[in-house]
Amino acid sequence: MAYKDVYEAWKADPEGFWMEAAQAIDWIEPPSKALFDENAPIYEWFADAKVNTCWNAVDRHVEAGRGPQYAIIYDSPITGRTHKITYSELRNRVATLAGALRAKGVEKGDRVIIYMPMVPEALEAMLACARLGAIHSVVFGGFASNELAVRIDDAKPKAILAASCGIEPGRIVHYKPLLDEAIEMAEHKPEFCVILQREQEVAKLVEGRDYGWHSFQYGATPAECVPVEGNHPSYILYTSGTTGQPKGVIRQTAGQLVALNWTMKNIYNVDPGDVFWAASDVGWVVGHSYICYGPLIHGNTTIVFEGKPVGTPDAGTFWRVISEHKVKSFFTAPTAFRAIKREDPKGEFVRKYDLSCLKALFLAGERADPDTITWAQEQLGVPVVDHWWQTETGWAIAANPLGIEELPTKLGSPSVPMPGYDVRILDEGGHELPAGQLGAIAIKLPLPPGTLPSLWNAEERYRKSYLEHFPGYYETGDAGYKDEDGYLYIMARTDDVINVAGHRLSTGAMEEVLASHPDVAECAVIGVSDDLKGQLPVGFLCLNAGTNRPAEEIVAEVVKLVREKIGPVAAFKQAVVVDRLPKTRSGKILRGTMVKIADGQDFKMPATIDDPAILDEIREALKSLGYPKS
Ligand code: COA
Ligand code: AMP
Repeated sequence: MAYKDVYEAWKADPEGFWMEAAQAIDWIEPPSKALFDENAPIYEWFADAKVNTCWNAVDRHVEAGRGPQYAIIYDSPITGRTHKITYSELRNRVATLAGALRAKGVEKGDRVIIYMPMVPEALEAMLACARLGAIHSVVFGGFASNELAVRIDDAKPKAILAASCGIEPGRIVHYKPLLDEAIEMAEHKPEFCVILQREQEVAKLVEGRDYGWHSFQYGATPAECVPVEGNHPSYILYTSGTTGQPKGVIRQTAGQLVALNWTMKNIYNVDPGDVFWAASDVGWVVGHSYICYGPLIHGNTTIVFEGKPVGTPDAGTFWRVISEHKVKSFFTAPTAFRAIKREDPKGEFVRKYDLSCLKALFLAGERADPDTITWAQEQLGVPVVDHWWQTETGWAIAANPLGIEELPTKLGSPSVPMPGYDVRILDEGGHELPAGQLGAIAIKLPLPPGTLPSLWNAEERYRKSYLEHFPGYYETGDAGYKDEDGYLYIMARTDDVINVAGHRLSTGAMEEVLASHPDVAECAVIGVSDDLKGQLPVGFLCLNAGTNRPAEEIVAEVVKLVREKIGPVAAFKQAVVVDRLPKTRSGKILRGTMVKIADGQDFKMPATIDDPAILDEIREALKSLGYPKS
């Protein structure tokens, strides 16, 4: 069948489409139907089924004879280690960890926070939770204590699983002190922590609260897979919204199983047994869907890569991994390719390796710029697929579904909507716009299986943030257009979210940190274009009257403060002191206009601007930071 036929088949009979996809899953009790719309606009999928994620991702493959196949290949150029784990070994490791957690009281529905670097134990921790029906929440290692504390207070975990440290080029990330500080800060206290001691740093354990990873599991009775309802939350993943309070995206068990399994063949074009690699981090949605769950549910081998695209040790590291482990389908962020291209523009490293195993490259996390796509196409000689999705959706909204049909690539477009997604471009009033016109991108409800049903502890916020603006639709927060052939173009965010090196960050959260500095009266943070990371945050500070300390000192302090409060991942390194911020007469800061000045783009003077002269001051301030770049 061609893509058009598949998409039309879904449209004609969504219930039949998803019930058929559901047949690929091992159910303890199969669902009586696919969509549960009794509480519309809150929708659930396969809600009345009984199922277990870990069974589907691990045990069933062992039962089916895949026991000797590698489930996980850990490749860590930063430590020089590799470790391959078969499906049989994985089952034993996960069952034992789950048994130890259960012996300490972790049960179905309990929350468990996982704060770990890219090591196989991070996936094992996720799967052990899934085995028990416990709900995990993985926190990215680049976040600081304060961010971790916010998540502890929201998720209220019974246990935290962590590592003693992470390793970044040139420095050790001291996870354990960060964890201790976060627990100290949080109101909610976990009952216990399990710490994976790494040889690079052995952490001090808190007597009575902390256990070493191995001693904790010693002698534990392996746990069997606990049946859970189809709508049981599989995990909570916090993502940036417009404020400092992150949104806890909920993923439900059955929808995730059915949808991710469907994508592995239809989008990524891999068959069970093939090696699939997503070079991201378990702390992001890509890590949840395509390092851990998707490939394992589908019986693939997944790669856990602890390194960077460049510098560990060189710009050929991705090609070495692909060649050595026979990766068939590879997924990363465009920023990684930009970093490689910068160091190896002629692709000399690419030619050092036999990459004949590689059949496709997938890019997501930020807009894939045409230069990057063209370079990747030329170097690798395989289809390069830009695909668009979000933490909220858990899998691609738009893609080029290579397993169904390779559609013509259009540079700058993540191609076409996937079955399950009825994507519309709307004007402010919610009217559909014709092809070629830029508008808000919305998806007609219901969203497909595997997408978020709501936010953790915050259904009202879910309704307000996503459903209220355009009744009957999910608002993606992205703006863009469709062309005559139905290809989508994703152009910008409509909110205060920026995208730095494929990481989603909230300028609102950074503003909250800047505003907490005693000398700062008012502030704004904008995302300016950056050749490598896509965007970089820049802060503007108005100081309290009477502050007479040097501006550089205050700038250095706020840079430090953002690193301490949000974490290094914010990449907040630039700020400037200004007298005033440009505003509308009603007091709204004109961030969009500031971005245009920073990027050297033409802009129309906003009709509602209070004092146009302030824009000249902003221009000067940006010039002092080297913007616009060209
Ligand atoms: N734990 C602790 N700190 C981390 C971290 C982690 N897991 N990941 C990143 N950081 C730190 C980095 O060390 C860096 O700190 P620094 O300010 O001391 O240099 C900071 O956070 C910013 O990190 P990042 O934006 O990732 O930049 P980078 O300099 O580490 O490298 C590139 C970025 C350019 C190499 C980029 O191409 C890349 O690989 N980005 C990641 C892409 C990705 O996986 N995105 C996920 C969505 S698919
Ligand atoms: P995250 O939730 O971290 O995955 O970030 C999701 C956001 O990243 C989207 O809403 C987009 O703004 C952006 N994004 C992700 N993939 C793409 C893509 N292929 N093209 C353009 N923007 C993208």
